[in-house]
Amino acid sequence: MTTEQPRAGSFYGRRKGHRLREQQSRLMEETLPRLRIGPDAVSDVSALFARPVSQTWLEIGFGGGEHLLHQMQLNPDVGFIGCEPFINGMAKLLAGEPDEQRLALHDADATELLPRLPAASIDRAFVLYPDPWPKRRQRKRRIISHETVSNLARVLKPGAIFRFATDIDDYAAWTLARVMASGQFDWAAERADDWRLAWTDWPGTRYEQKAFREGRTPAYLTFVRREARNLA
Ligand SMILES: C[S@@+](CC[C@H](N)C(=O)[O-])C[C@H]1O[C@@H](n2cnc3c(N)ncnc32)[C@H](O)[C@@H]1O
Repeated sequence: MTTEQPRAGSFYGRRKGHRLREQQSRLMEETLPRLRIGPDAVSDVSALFARPVSQTWLEIGFGGGEHLLHQMQLNPDVGFIGCEPFINGMAKLLAGEPDEQRLALHDADATELLPRLPAASIDRAFVLYPDPWPKRRQRKRRIISHETVSNLARVLKPGAIFRFATDIDDYAAWTLARVMASGQFDWAAERADDWRLAWTDWPGTRYEQKAFREGRTPAYLTFVRREARNLA
């Protein structure tokens, strides 16, 4: 396995966009510090939440939080760990009035958080439309690398689902290659529609709308973390 992990923090293009509105600034100053995951190893993910949760789901690069907020509404017993270094995205999520009692946030590089999460602690993970880094020389910046896949496999419970979406053909193939090479996941697709059509609980995002407008065709990949006895 070659090492693909670039310097921590080098994945995302930018951390800050336009100026935050007053309410967003207040949420960043008052709410984010309460929900932010501390710098140490997390020994128990359920302790991240202010109330008991039945499962813990992890979304990496949630953008403006459209998908995270939607899943929160659909799944009222699930606790969510959201990772997003882009300040305006984080502010948008907070302005969307998430259920703070079952939300924990990491406002930096997700690859820095993954090693601090306990093994087999996450029930579902999402990487949805990660930054594409389409040029060959930029690809090492992609969030999906052999190392990220291996870290995801470690934190996901056996049988847990990992969902990935992209509008870049090459990134779908790139991710499939790395996930299958890990020997830790099965690809759940049985027919082409399983990766051509979005999940029924996928709300769509502004980013995806832009991809459609610009004529790109998304792929939706669903992987299942193997049980220990089925590991390759
Ligand atoms: C193209 S946007 C897609 C956002 C959202 N998932 C959607 O579908 O609309 C990719 C997001 O991933 C975030 N991101 C990039 N590198 C990251 C990293 N290392 N850890 C966590 N998030 C990251 C970016 O800040 C950006 O908001």
